[in-house]
Parts: sequence; structure tokens; C-alpha cells
Amino acid sequence: MNFQPNELRELRGAYEGRRVLITGGLGFIGSNLAIALVELGAAVSLVDALFPDHGGNWYNVWPVMRKVSVVVADMRDQARMLALVEGQEYIFNLAGQVSHVDSMEEPQTDLEMNCRAQLSLLEACRRRNPLAKIIYASTRQIYGRPRYLPVDEEHPLQPTDVNGIHKMAAEWYHRVYARVYGLATCSLRLTNTYGPRLRIRDARQTFLGWWIRQAVAGEEILVYGDGRQMRDFTYIDDVVRAFLLTGCRALFQGEAYNLGGCEVVALADLAALLVDLAGRGCYRLVPWPEERLAIDIGSYTGNYQRAREVLGWQPVVPLRAGLAQTLDYYRANWEHYA
Ligand SMILES: NC(=O)c1ccc[n+]([C@@H]2O[C@H](COP(=O)([O-])OP(=O)(O)OC[C@H]3O[C@@H](n4cnc5c(N)ncnc54)[C@H](O)[C@@H]3O)[C@@H](O)[C@H]2O)c1
Repeated sequence: MNFQPNELRELRGAYEGRRVLITGGLGFIGSNLAIALVELGAAVSLVDALFPDHGGNWYNVWPVMRKVSVVVADMRDQARMLALVEGQEYIFNLAGQVSHVDSMEEPQTDLEMNCRAQLSLLEACRRRNPLAKIIYASTRQIYGRPRYLPVDEEHPLQPTDVNGIHKMAAEWYHRVYARVYGLATCSLRLTNTYGPRLRIRDARQTFLGWWIRQAVAGEEILVYGDGRQMRDFTYIDDVVRAFLLTGCRALFQGEAYNLGGCEVVALADLAALLVDLAGRGCYRLVPWPEERLAIDIGSYTGNYQRAREVLGWQPVVPLRAGLAQTLDYYRANWEHYA
């Protein structure tokens, strides 16, 4: 990770020697955050259930394997969580089920993963560690189909799928536990995040992981609809910086901050860029599959002014550079992900 000298000083001051727990720590975002926190000198513990359909992967933490403590456990296990939260100063709460399509096929499972597991963590903190700073990974999905762009935090919450409803509820649990019990919580509303350690084995989690895999393999990428849908992808290093800065600078009153990307891109242009960077493969526009169209949100771009003002955060990695680094990573580590 590249930090500005001032930022690095502040982050070291905040995390060096401090106890940090990351839930979902073997997953895409959690593992990248773990690596950065180890670099900053934190004492890092990870908890992850390693559900086979999720993004957890032992190889994700290979660079820091001997420097982190990993507990394979389900966050719904209240007794385990009571022990795990004790003494932690920061809890980055990233465990969750991220597939929108899966949430429609198995809504009860999504409820378990995104709501019950979250209550289990918050209850454990309320009983054993009410002073920990808790940063929750929320999502732009809770806004649903945008009424205006770019979407700010005041936009109505009107999720279009079960996953969005449960992530919204989980964010609200964090808010209510801050207001009623005085827990130090806040949420980051992430937009589509990409980069090394993203699950690319299938399209369950995000279409982008699948597209990255197809680009590396030189296959044909299928773009649904007219390809003019807009998105503001965030590179993983920018998301990790956002979590780290949030830990130091947020108000911790249950508030939420949008993240966003350096640039806005139409999905057909993204596919073309991937093909160009990979130097192989191609893309084609195809009609929407019914089950995906039914929960689609159209174009989305986020207004991250609040994060800029309060957290001093803004994305800095351009899409082209981020995608190039991502493709390099998967070329070099193909057998661990594909
Ligand atoms: N990746 C994105 O584009 C994106 C966008 C918006 C929000 N988010 C949120 O960020 C968080 C992390 O996403 P990710 O992309 O790293 O996903 P991921 O699937 O790669 O990682 C999530 C990890 O959580 C673990 N997990 C799930 N339920 C658990 C439980 N009950 N107990 C213990 N571990 C459990 C999984 O095994 C997995 O390893 C999620 O909460 C997700 O909703 C991600």
C-alpha cells in the first residue's frame, strides 16, 4: 500500500501495537485490509467461516500467514464471538453474503448471514467490549434504483433485492446499537470493489470477478443489455485506505459514508478496456437474463463528499491502472483462484 507520509504517520499512530479483529478476514476485502494492518504494525486477528460459495481463501493471507491469528468460526456462534471481541480496539466487520442472485434463491440463508450474524457480533460487543470501534462494510445496494446521480447519503433507501434489504437492516443495527447502547459504530457504503484477491471462480459474487477471469483466459465476455449502464468501481487499495482512515477519523455515532471510484464508466467500455489490457478475448452484448434484470438497479455513481470532508478520503487509483494490476495478480496466481 502506498500512503502519503502524513497519512502513514497517523495510521501508524492509530494501529501500531493495537489489537484489531477483522470479520470475514479471509475474504477479498478483509484479507487486503489484514495485509495493510500488519504492515502498520497492528496485532491482527481474523475470523472467517470459509463458506464455500463466498470469497474466503487461505491463499489471500499468504503474505502475512505467520503474522495474523486466524479463527475459522461462524459469527453466528455467540459464544465464540464473546471470546473473540474481548480486548479488541478496532473491529472491521466485513463478514457477509454478497451475492444478490443467491439472496433471491436462498433468502433465509442471506438473512442468517447478513442479519443474524451481525446481531451476534453487536451483542458480543455490547456485553464484552462496548468500547471497541466497529466499522461495518455496508453497500450502495441499499439505495436500490437511483432516483438521481450521483447518489448521496440522503438518497432514499429502497433496495431491489433481498441482499440489499438485509444489508440495510445490518447497517441499521449498527446505528441503533450506537444510539441506544453507545457502541462506537459507523458504516462505509461500498460501491463495486475490484482488485487482487477477489473471487473469480464464478459470477456468484460479482460479474466483475467473472469478467476478470474471462479476460485473463482470453474468453468472450457477455455484457447484459445495451452496455450503457454506468458504474464507479473502487480499486481495493482505495477501499482499504478508506477503512483505515475511518478507524482514525470517523465520528462513530452510527453514521454512514459513501465510497466511490475515480471515474465513471459504462459497462461495455469496461469490457472493452479489460479486453484491451488483457490483449486477448472479446466481448458481446446479450439480452438480460430474467432473474438478473428483475433486481437490476440501472446506472449508479456515488457522491462521496461526506467521506472526503470527514474522513479526508478520496479514491486515487485510476480504473486502467487498477485493472492492469488486477490482471497481473491473477496471471501470477491463477491456480489459487481460477
Ligand atoms: N466486494 C464488493 O464489491 C462489495 C461491495 C459492497 C459491499 N461489500 C461488503 O463488503 C464485505 C466484504 O465483501 P467481500 O467482497 O470481501 O466478500 P468475500 O465473500 O470475499 O468475503 C466475505 C467473507 O465473510 C465470510 N463470512 C460470511 N459470513 C460469515 C459468518 N457468518 N461468519 C464468519 N465469516 C463469514 C466469508 O466466508 C468470506 O470469506 C461484505 O460484507 C460485503 O457485503 C462488498
